[in-house]
Order: sequence, then structure tokens, then C-alpha cells
Amino acid sequence: NSRIRTRDLRSAKERGEKWAMLTSYDQYTAAIFDRIGIPALLVGDSAANNVYGYETTIPVTVEELLPLVGAVARSTERTLVVADLPFGSYEAGPQQALETAVRFMKAGAHAVKLEGGTRIADQIAALTGAGIPVMGHVGFTPQSEHLIGGYRVAGRAGQAAAVVADAQAVAEAGAFAVVLEMVMADVAAQITKELAIPTVGIGAGPDTDAQVLVWQDMAGLRQGPAPRFVKNYANVADVIGEAAQRYAEEVRGGVFPAEEHSFR
Ligand code: KIV
Ligand code: NA
Repeated sequence: NSRIRTRDLRSAKERGEKWAMLTSYDQYTAAIFDRIGIPALLVGDSAANNVYGYETTIPVTVEELLPLVGAVARSTERTLVVADLPFGSYEAGPQQALETAVRFMKAGAHAVKLEGGTRIADQIAALTGAGIPVMGHVGFTPQSEHLIGGYRVAGRAGQAAAVVADAQAVAEAGAFAVVLEMVMADVAAQITKELAIPTVGIGAGPDTDAQVLVWQDMAGLRQGPAPRFVKNYANVADVIGEAAQRYAEEVRGGVFPAEEHSFR
């Protein structure tokens, strides 16, 4: 019962087997996803939105993410734990990226992920050179949303070549996989065919080697409007809301705690 390794994900691509990735930021979801056989979990900087209540991923810090990585790593036996490097913690150069990535590896991560293609290739090469597996992330990159000008699909007519070049740069720099976020499906399919490393799509159509979703989106814990690429497989917000409502009613009615919950 050993850990999934990056080479196992590469082998899955060679066999044509698709796999599902999820985010996780805590003990219990990590243990559930590990038990049901999710091969890779991402402690995403999307913890900014989904744990810390920020509107974007831009404010979240290394110090806020490190304890979540530790929790997920300690609560899993099989899954490969990937930690996102947050905005501002790797852009300055390979040295900064290495110093940050080392902190995440010491916190329990088995790999790190950073956003960007060609512009971040030197960082990826430095990390892999230091023994740290890297997952790339190209297409729409949320940490650069102000430069990009909002949540925009990448790889539309006239821009496909730039996304392909970014994915190739990430692979050539030594990444073991690459996330394609909000990429036109035909472009994602082309990249998936051209690269030897697995592609992990989110809003990138059905032809990537793997898919990733934020677990609160997958399970329907997040309320309100969601992006087109989200599918809810449950309605956990309603389950928790109804449980809390019944609990509060029983407290108000003097029904809870009952005799069996009491010490006498
Ligand atoms: O932080 C995150 O959740 C991500 C995935 C959605 C790819 O980067
Ligand atoms: Na992220």
C-alpha cells in the first residue's frame, strides 16, 4: 500500500486510463478521498476562496497554506499530495521558488504546483533540479487575473499557439504533469496528444488525461453561481444546513441532550 508516484500518473497516460484529482484542505476530506482511491490531491491556493473567505487567490500566503498541506499529508496513505505555491512566493526567480517549495516539501507535500508557462520555466527547472516534482498550470491562471483582465477562456482563435507553447515549455522544464485551466477543448486535446506528461483539465473539455475540481464544488458545499466547468455530485450544503437546523431545534425544544448523552 505505497504512495502513488508521479511515474504512476505517467503510466496511466500510457495505458490510456483517465483519473480524477480533487482539492483538499483538511483531515477528513483528505482521508475520504485517499480511501476511495483519488490518486492525487491538490492543496490548492483556492483555499483562499474555499477556506479563508477571500474573493481571489491573490491574498493567501505561504503561512496560511503550510498547515493545510501538513493536515492533508498526515491524513493520507496512498494519494500524491500536491501543494500550490501562492502568488508572490515564486515569481522573483528560481532561488525564491526553491526556498518556497522547500518549505512546502518539509510540510509534507510530495510535489508543488505553480502557475505560468514560458515565463516560469526557469523556476520549474530549478525545482526539478533540486529533486522536487512540479505540476505546471497554464491556460487561465487565477493569480494573474488582473493582467489577463478577468476569468477568460484561453486558446481562442489566434491565441492557441501561446497556450500550446506554454504547455510545451512546462513539460520541457521537467514538470511531471500540467493543469490546463479554462482552455478551449480542441486546444487541450491537441496539447494532450503532443505531450508525454499527463494533462489535468479544469474547464478544458473531455480529452485531457485527468480532471481536477475543487472538492466544495464537486460536493455542492459552495453556494451561489459557479463556473460552467463545475458539476455538483451532491448537495452537501443542504445536508449540513438541515442537520444544524434539527440540532438547533432540539436544543431549543429541550430534546437534546437526552439521557444517553448525559453523565449522572
Ligand atoms: O487552486 C486550485 O484549486 C487549482 C485547481 C483548480 C487547478 O489550482
Ligand atoms: Na491554484
